[in-house]
Amino acid sequence: MGFDRLAPHYDWMELIVAGGLLQRCRLAWLGELSAERVLLAGEGHGRFLVALSQRLPNAKITYLDDSGVMLDVARRRLEQVHPSIMPQVEWLHASLPDWSPPAAGFDLVVTNFFLDCFDGDLLKRVVDCLSTVCVPGGQWLISDFTVPSHPAFRIPATLSLWLMYRFFRMTTNLPARSLESPFPQIQAHGFTRSHTRDSLFGFLTSQLWCRAPGGN
Ligand SMILES: C[S@@+](CC[C@H](N)C(=O)[O-])C[C@H]1O[C@@H](n2cnc3c(N)ncnc32)[C@H](O)[C@@H]1O
Repeated sequence: MGFDRLAPHYDWMELIVAGGLLQRCRLAWLGELSAERVLLAGEGHGRFLVALSQRLPNAKITYLDDSGVMLDVARRRLEQVHPSIMPQVEWLHASLPDWSPPAAGFDLVVTNFFLDCFDGDLLKRVVDCLSTVCVPGGQWLISDFTVPSHPAFRIPATLSLWLMYRFFRMTTNLPARSLESPFPQIQAHGFTRSHTRDSLFGFLTSQLWCRAPGGN
């Protein structure tokens, strides 16, 4: 089933549920990004894609998503807002972790509200795959939900996550049952966190990680 059914409604749902909070989170470190080859994994509706194409107009961007309807939404959005960039974007209707990446790799990988779709072994395989495609010295931008450390915010956050996972499991067959942090595994792959911005009392995080120049 995937996100095809939700895709036409994703924009207004995001606006009603979160206002501008998710987009602020996606864009938190836009000014710090520099890359020639970018992979946007699970990019969905393409709101980040539009902003990135304006920030890095010469980059070659690979958009990857396993929902064909999301891909169409993103393609239409970019065509309307920034048509001149279209020839630089490769559109991949593909699924992680089964996708076979190109040998050349990417110097920027972006996963916005994507890694939360996975847990357990599947999360491990997705992170393994994305770590491999990021070249040594490359950047990995991650925006996602986290569980706040302060007890007063942990309970409402846990309840919100429970509701979100129930909703997405019903509407998209989401494989994950609960939120699992990808960060220890990303670190184990030789990435170091260079920038962090948390918002909504620690319920949202935007983190920029850098892969060691020597690789791992
Ligand atoms: C929660 S949405 C996030 C969309 C967008 N990145 C954002 O910032 O809102 C997750 C996206 O990942 C895509 N997706 C889910 N599982 C996937 C997989 N295994 N491989 C590739 N894309 C996947 C969905 O189709 C959807 O567009």
